[in-house]
Amino acid sequence: MVYVTEQTLTDVVRKRWSDIPDPRLQQVMQALVKHLHAFVREIEPSQAEWATAIDFLTRTGKLCDDKRQEFILLSDVLGVSMLVDAINHRRSSQATPSTVEGPFHVPGAPPMANGANMAANAPGIPCFCIGKVHGVGGEPIVGAALDLWQTDGEGFYEAQRPGIDGVWMRGLYRTQGDGSYLIRTVAPIAYTIPMDGTIGELMNRTNMSHMRPAHIHFALDAPGYHGLVTHLFQAGDKWIQNDAVYGVKEPLIVEFKKLPAGSKAPSGEIMNEPFYVVNYDFVLERKAQAAAA
Ligand SMILES: [Fe+2]
Repeated sequence: MVYVTEQTLTDVVRKRWSDIPDPRLQQVMQALVKHLHAFVREIEPSQAEWATAIDFLTRTGKLCDDKRQEFILLSDVLGVSMLVDAINHRRSSQATPSTVEGPFHVPGAPPMANGANMAANAPGIPCFCIGKVHGVGGEPIVGAALDLWQTDGEGFYEAQRPGIDGVWMRGLYRTQGDGSYLIRTVAPIAYTIPMDGTIGELMNRTNMSHMRPAHIHFALDAPGYHGLVTHLFQAGDKWIQNDAVYGVKEPLIVEFKKLPAGSKAPSGEIMNEPFYVVNYDFVLERKAQAAAA
């Protein structure tokens, strides 16, 4: 037995935490002790700073319930959520990249006909999303599901919009025989991450932005292909270069082309107000074929 000194402590703790039958848990705990001790050795916290850190984590945990997850928000603003997403979705460079799902996805979006309006009663500028879903090899994917969710034109998701008791700003579309899709919605706007908790407290002690640039969330699913959870971001958004959760990848920035009243929409109708057209082709990667027996 080696008794502890400041110098030997990390080795003693790592040795104790090596006695774990589950090899993955052993690996995780070894790395955790190694990096956590290195962090503490670098920072050299005072007892008061250590207590402040414990208090921060305690209050962060107390904010979490079935509607709110302050720890995921902490992971988001530290870039950890995007790193975990990247590690788990390594794809061909030709495939559309993923980005984090975020906290606002609600399973079971209502099925919508091609071209149907998923924002029929919502405030905002009309917005048509058109394009195709195809494979890396260029083959159109017929019947691919596109599950969308987003803010309305005032920045509210379904969970945030007061007085809503039902579906708000989400819908499930499917690609047509040529792999094309046509979605009618309203343009989303930029919004702030929740700033009334411990993460807001921390962000307010920095000069960093707490905004997310305007975006539409998409979850794509098609048999035989890797699913894709991603966003489309509005090019030119004021916060496109400093998204608070690091979600912006260059291939996901798309022009929201604004057309004047009197123009013909992709649906064929003449619009009596200005509207946006977003044209984007999603590229999915095939799952590896099972090895022949
Ligand atoms: Fe979002």
